[in-house]
Amino acid sequence: MTFQEEIKRRRTFAIISHPDAGKTTLTEKLLLFGGAIHIAGAVKSNKIKKTATSDWMEIEKQRGISVATSVMGFEYRDYKINILDTPGHQDFAEDTFRTLTAVDSVIIVIDTAKGVETQTRKLMQVCRMRNTPVMVFVNKMDREGKEPFDLLDEIESELGIAVRPLSWPINMGVGFKGVYNIYKKSLDLYTPNKQVVSESIAFNDLSNKELEKHIGENNAAKLREDIELIEGVYEPFDVNTYLDGSLAPVFFGSALNNFGVKELLDCFVEIAPSPRAVEATERVVKPEENNFSGFIFKIHANMDPNHRSCIAFVKICSGKFERNVNYKHIRHNKLMKFSSPTAFMAQKKETVDEAFAGDIIGLPDTGTFKIGDSLTAGEEIHFKGLPSFSPEMFKYIENADPLKSKQLNKGIDQLMDEGVAQLFVNQYNGRKIIGTVGQLQFEVIQYRLLHEYNAQCKWEPISLYKACWIESDNAEELEQFKKRKFQYMAKDKEGRDVFLADSGYVLQMAQSDFKNIRFHFTSEF
Ligand code: G4P
Repeated sequence: MTFQEEIKRRRTFAIISHPDAGKTTLTEKLLLFGGAIHIAGAVKSNKIKKTATSDWMEIEKQRGISVATSVMGFEYRDYKINILDTPGHQDFAEDTFRTLTAVDSVIIVIDTAKGVETQTRKLMQVCRMRNTPVMVFVNKMDREGKEPFDLLDEIESELGIAVRPLSWPINMGVGFKGVYNIYKKSLDLYTPNKQVVSESIAFNDLSNKELEKHIGENNAAKLREDIELIEGVYEPFDVNTYLDGSLAPVFFGSALNNFGVKELLDCFVEIAPSPRAVEATERVVKPEENNFSGFIFKIHANMDPNHRSCIAFVKICSGKFERNVNYKHIRHNKLMKFSSPTAFMAQKKETVDEAFAGDIIGLPDTGTFKIGDSLTAGEEIHFKGLPSFSPEMFKYIENADPLKSKQLNKGIDQLMDEGVAQLFVNQYNGRKIIGTVGQLQFEVIQYRLLHEYNAQCKWEPISLYKACWIESDNAEELEQFKKRKFQYMAKDKEGRDVFLADSGYVLQMAQSDFKNIRFHFTSEF
């Protein structure tokens, strides 16, 4: 197989959902089709969301186990599939945001009874920022849920993307008969059995009286009516509008019952994008270029105190990565070679000699990498930074052991490089503020500072509503703003200006008083 063909056959994606919609179940079924696992119930390790939030040590232990499931690679038909796992627990949402920068497309799982939920909405924002193509799987059709047309309207308005059903449910809940597969023009009948793939009958013409035999008179009449409506209301499916991120094809099924999953996968491999071009500061990097390039999107710390190394996850953006070849660490301006890069096949990690654009590899790391770092064959390429989102919670971090301030600062720096949380330094009093998505991160930081850096920290409350990045084309107004708000100005790790608003009202006033200043809630603008 040529190098170009290797790249073309890769499908690197993430499954995202609100907890409990069925992401784990769907992932598992996909792995079953790929022969990557042989029994249901094998993908349990990302069930961390079910653990009580206070028990973060347990969560971290499970996160450790989940290194193996961080990337699940397998072969299906002629395709090489890489599923990137995203943590279910909402306190690790920032991890998920970063993972989304390393995928070429996304499958969103929605619970038919619950519709679009908060976390899905947030994750979709990240997809929209990058025009990532998304496909929707409406799950749990074996249960009573919302009316499918209502659900489609909800997805369109809540997720801000046009939709096009490519399959259509025949009844739901106890009366669920299956789906009409609009993409393949087949009638897929439902057998509530966790291991058996549904029966699929080619069915071009819905007016055929055979339809009644399979699904009964009422269902047949309803299906004909629904499909007619769909064909009337929605434009014919156009793969290019999916690929440019403006239209989401929708499938219906039941992951638990393995229904509609193979159909989703078959359509997915056919239409989902192979690795896409990636924008760097200097230029756009195309996957089929000969020279290797990639960036670090995730650093996974090992919580086992006996093996304190980390794994840095690299998304290969172009070319071929080879073991024991020198590559340039752009930020350090230094050549490095790697003797034990790992690839992720099925749920196993193994050392690999080569990997291609679209693949994810793991590199052992002892503090040389930082999230967002670029690695190349030599060219100065800086892949655009990964977005940080304005955190939800803030605390001052203080040194609790004056003799260990060096250790504390080093620890804070490294943990921030790993992307555990965000650091802001108040320009008025010089105090360090840590911003997180959830309470858990504060505990993780405190524990890791003590156990990995022998440093003790303590937290002090700060009442903040939002931290937002500010910029303006009007230098004078920017200066004026900074002067007026001097007590509330901070710098982030990259030295950018951040405004710390202590209430929604203050932020609103600032926005209306300073019209030439842009207030950003993500660091990528
Ligand atoms: P998540 O990763 O998105 O959080 O969801 P997960 O797959 O863990 O599924 C959440 C719950 O929904 C699980 O039940 C799972 O069995 C169930 N589920 C998934 N797909 C379907 C479906 O198509 N139909 C029905 N009826 N249920 C589905 P649980 O009881 O919480 O966990 P478990 O003990 O069954 O693993």
